[in-house]
Amino acid sequence: MEAPSRFLRALARQPVDCTPVWFHRQAGRYLPGYAAIARRLSFLEMCERPEVVAEVTLEPVEAHGVDAAILFADILLVPRAMGIHLTIEREQGPIIETPIRSAEDIARLREAGAEEELGFISEAIALTRRALAGRVPLIGFAGAPFTVAAYLIDGRISAELPRTKVLMRREPALWQELLTRLTTVTVRYLLAQVRAGAQVIELFDSWAGSLTRDEWERFAAPFSRQIFQALAEAGVPTIHFAGASNHLLEAMRQAGGDAIALDWRVRLNSAWARIGYDRAVQGNLDPTVLLTPGAPLRAAIQDILDRAAGRPGHIFNLGHGVLRETSPAAVREAVALVHELSARPPAQSEEEAG
Ligand code: CP3
Repeated sequence: MEAPSRFLRALARQPVDCTPVWFHRQAGRYLPGYAAIARRLSFLEMCERPEVVAEVTLEPVEAHGVDAAILFADILLVPRAMGIHLTIEREQGPIIETPIRSAEDIARLREAGAEEELGFISEAIALTRRALAGRVPLIGFAGAPFTVAAYLIDGRISAELPRTKVLMRREPALWQELLTRLTTVTVRYLLAQVRAGAQVIELFDSWAGSLTRDEWERFAAPFSRQIFQALAEAGVPTIHFAGASNHLLEAMRQAGGDAIALDWRVRLNSAWARIGYDRAVQGNLDPTVLLTPGAPLRAAIQDILDRAAGRPGHIFNLGHGVLRETSPAAVREAVALVHELSARPPAQSEEEAG
């Protein structure tokens, strides 16, 4: 691959030969190599072994020809390093064994030392960069403080987040303390990822959409903004993802991110107009469309490319992550289709020049 890659160029809103494409959760159980490793190691064991991380991170790059690699890790490694006991059960997702319920629980969260606990991530990044050998850039990531706090307080995936919202509204000082601690450690962790070789950082605020816009701006955005500011000062490009975020797009832009990642519920063209063309956008295929390869997949990809209209600054992705029931062949087909349907004519042919 030519340097700088089409992924980094699109993120900087520069012209590209065709639209770059990668997928959230492109490494996962739908891939045979991943599935074989997952039979002998737990998810967290996988995350802690740099050579496994490198192998799993590279599998979709080699199998599908995506334009970026994303570090294989999890947003909950940060609170785990701060002393929270949790398991990540296959089928059920994360379960927090010691959810945050009180001021004492928050006071116990470790700030000092958390970064050292995450040293295996820096090792994994360095090893993965070497294995990638410049083929495509490597994306590092973390969870936004709001989404991580929601896991810690509600204890598991829950669309309503009742405990989180009660604590947030009833105990503003505790909320401030918890999110400040998460923010401090997340900034250090992300800067360590950048030092180790992560070339782009994506911040995942998966549960943001469960808040009203006013509450997201008040209780979540200030912490995400601090993270984006620290990364901007370090000169690293960033991507800002929030789930079910149609009502939050302008506020997300305010909080930061060189690219705003869209879910599939919005039309890419109207979302981009609201965000402003001085930002890149990423997205926004419905992940279930990968379950219908052939004509439906092609039509959905064409529709998104039409809405992006060849404007510099579009990175193709899903609106959320690859589902486990997806066939690897469908992912490969989607990557090839994005490249083929978006190929720009080579700039100014010789005949024209003469
Ligand atoms: O390929 C990639 O995108 C990189 C790896 C990645 C994982 N988690 C691996 C993973 C990334 C970027 C994440 C981020 C993450 N983790 C988010 C934010 C993105 C999002 O999905 O909104 C969230 C909310 C989590 C928390 C989490 N971890 C959940 C909800 C789950 C269960 C999901 C499931 O499908 O079972 C996990 C576990 C997890 N993280 C898996 C993977 C591949 C599945 C583990 C397995 O069964 O092997």
